[in-house]
Amino acid sequence: MLRGLFLWLSEQGSIFNFVKRNRIARSIASRFVAGETVASAIEATRLLNEKGITASLDLLGESVSSREATHVAREEVVQTLDEVARTGVDANVSVKLTQLGLDIDYDLCLQNMRTILERAKKHEIFVRIDMESSDHTERTLRIFKDLQPEYNGLTGVVIQSYLRRSADDIEDLIAMGARVRLCKGAYAEPESIAYQDKKEIDSSFDSLMVRLLDHGNYPGIATHDEQRIERALAHVESNKIPYERFEFQMLYGVRRDLYQSLRDKGFNVRVYIPFGSNWYPYLMRRLAERPGNVAFMTASVVKETFSRG
Ligand code: FDA
Repeated sequence: MLRGLFLWLSEQGSIFNFVKRNRIARSIASRFVAGETVASAIEATRLLNEKGITASLDLLGESVSSREATHVAREEVVQTLDEVARTGVDANVSVKLTQLGLDIDYDLCLQNMRTILERAKKHEIFVRIDMESSDHTERTLRIFKDLQPEYNGLTGVVIQSYLRRSADDIEDLIAMGARVRLCKGAYAEPESIAYQDKKEIDSSFDSLMVRLLDHGNYPGIATHDEQRIERALAHVESNKIPYERFEFQMLYGVRRDLYQSLRDKGFNVRVYIPFGSNWYPYLMRRLAERPGNVAFMTASVVKETFSRG
């Protein structure tokens, strides 16, 4: 129930004005978000790089509703690519297509992506297209497939194991030689299109993961779930899959112990680093995954709001 509430809150942008003034909310956000500027994300990357861990930088923001705002976001992503190249940190970039106009006009979004990928090509930096809620899945995959022939190896996409359609999508993407990040999925989805039961989501994750480890193009196994990771390790060992053929991915601020121990064992590990001022929906999705933080934050927001009068 709490998960549903926080996923609903993630879509209520007006509440952000309330929450962002709250000290505890900002402090919880700072655990999951590197900071508001690209410089803060580069600094977080540098610290991870020192430990042998790479990064994917994500400029926070989604569901943009004006063309101008998509151009601003596009330019910020381009600047992020420039900064990664200039500073020489080991990082790629992740983007959300609703920040680049997917809900406004397909061609606008495609054009914004082309501009980003042209700069990525110049710097030889990979750009991952994140996956959002299921009403965007088909169009996100279409944009990716439109771009893939021209920017082969420079861009990749995400598959969510909670979606019933994902087994078919994975086969399509494997056949294309696409680079795929596999995650469980972070949005509230109806039963008709998404598994609701953790066991089913996990079992779907395991079978998609095995397909990607066996036949994928440098897949990203994105989870903090130790059982999923153990399954991956067992499969890699018994099938003698070289460690350089895949990477584990985790979120900034979540299970640092786990990603460092995987790195220490010689696996490639990438941490997804969000930055920017639009942290509210991202924070709500992280809280939805971790009810432990929720009661503390809710009480504190209510207390600070009412004491302010
Ligand atoms: P699960 O939720 O079962 O958690 C396993 C364990 O991890 C928990 O028991 C806890 O210990 C720890 N944990 C998980 N989340 C935590 C949190 N917020 N705070 C503290 N501990 C936590 N989703 C999506 O829909 N589209 C996308 O593009 C992406 N991209 C993406 C990139 C990367 C690198 C990662 C790691 C994840 C995503 N996700 C995503 C999010 C993903 O779909 C999923 O919601 C979260 O990763 C949580 O699921 P787990 O696989 O970690 O398992």
